[in-house]
Amino acid sequence: MTNYNFDRLANRNNDFSKKWSKCFIEERFGPVPDDYISMWIADMDYELAPPIYNHLEKILSKKTLAYIYPYEEFFKAVQYWMSFKTKKEVPLEEITLDYSIVNSLYHVVQTFTKPGDRVLINTPVYNPFREATKRNHAILVENELDIDEKNRYVIDFEELERQMVEQLPKIYILCNPHNPGGTVWSREDLNKISDLCLKYNIILISDEAHSDHINQNIFTSTLELDEKYRQNLVYLNSPNKAFNIAGLKTSYVIIPSHKLRTQYREILEACHVEEPNVFGAAALISGYTPEGREWLESSFDYIIKNYEWAKEFMAKETPMLEIMPMDASYVLWVNVSKTGMTGDTFTWKLAQEEGILFQEGSSFGQSGEDFVRINLGTSKELVQKAFNRMAKWLNEKNIQEQEGE
Ligand SMILES: Cc1ncc(COP(=O)(O)O)c(C=O)c1O
Repeated sequence: MTNYNFDRLANRNNDFSKKWSKCFIEERFGPVPDDYISMWIADMDYELAPPIYNHLEKILSKKTLAYIYPYEEFFKAVQYWMSFKTKKEVPLEEITLDYSIVNSLYHVVQTFTKPGDRVLINTPVYNPFREATKRNHAILVENELDIDEKNRYVIDFEELERQMVEQLPKIYILCNPHNPGGTVWSREDLNKISDLCLKYNIILISDEAHSDHINQNIFTSTLELDEKYRQNLVYLNSPNKAFNIAGLKTSYVIIPSHKLRTQYREILEACHVEEPNVFGAAALISGYTPEGREWLESSFDYIIKNYEWAKEFMAKETPMLEIMPMDASYVLWVNVSKTGMTGDTFTWKLAQEEGILFQEGSSFGQSGEDFVRINLGTSKELVQKAFNRMAKWLNEKNIQEQEGE
């Protein structure tokens, strides 16, 4: 087992990233102090996994970056990755190259809906689910998630079925595991969803972007379900969350049904999404290997330690903040309503007064308004610094409010 040093972060100076570039941050959050710590967008701060770095370096050493064709190793690497995740062999012909999951969200709406058709989603959810629908002139049907006694998201299946019957959506875009919240849907949930989709003639789209970060290893992919459900499924994924390579804009779509796959590919052809990015294909191929898995597991072990530390710290120092159990992903979903602030106020004030940048929950929809999302994919030093600064800020605020009473 290789020893990786996740305390040492990548050099993010002048990298034009949305996460760390001051000009981008100040446009979004307003003026922030110079010693800001960025924990908003889902982008990790670790150095690239060595197998990916080495492969890209080798390509660069050839001093050419010409057009390439979709070569077999790309599809075989996806097949390998899926075989240990789902314990099933995905046939190569079911896999299609795409230019990021977000692009695929747009492509599924373009493929399977006409303007005015309806798209079902669970809210709060990753905003591109909404944007892809609206920008392609389809209409959103929002099924609001409930929160159970263990503080986890759950689906109100009665309401979901009622919406299917009354609104007749053409597609249902599921987030598995769910972002925000990191909720892992159970096999029973997925079977129920798939059953309802078949019953009401709705194509199930499953975005499994966060499925490489599963705490406790309990996860079911929609690809593992019964064949009758797979035939009604469009599965979206990319190596971008696992290996922090979102800038390479490479992903894949798995569609077991020949009919749905042909329809989807026609839209890709219409947009000329056919040739891989040289680095994107190479990074996927070298990440989706046993060495890549080892790096992924080590980085997630490190993140889970950050999570355990944050949970303990918050229970002691900021008990008014309520954490949703992070069963998947590396972003923590925290209800801040007991501070008397909305997620928006909490986020802007903390950013501008202390330079701690979280993501406001309202960017995931109205039902996220009481929340903020905190990215733990960084060093323990930065996590501890940020949480200590936040606790001090909350304490001072509390004292000022009490003095003002
Ligand atoms: C649910 C979900 N889907 C997709 C993405 C982005 O994936 P990609 O970089 O492949 O577009 C994210 C990023 O955070 C996400 O949370």
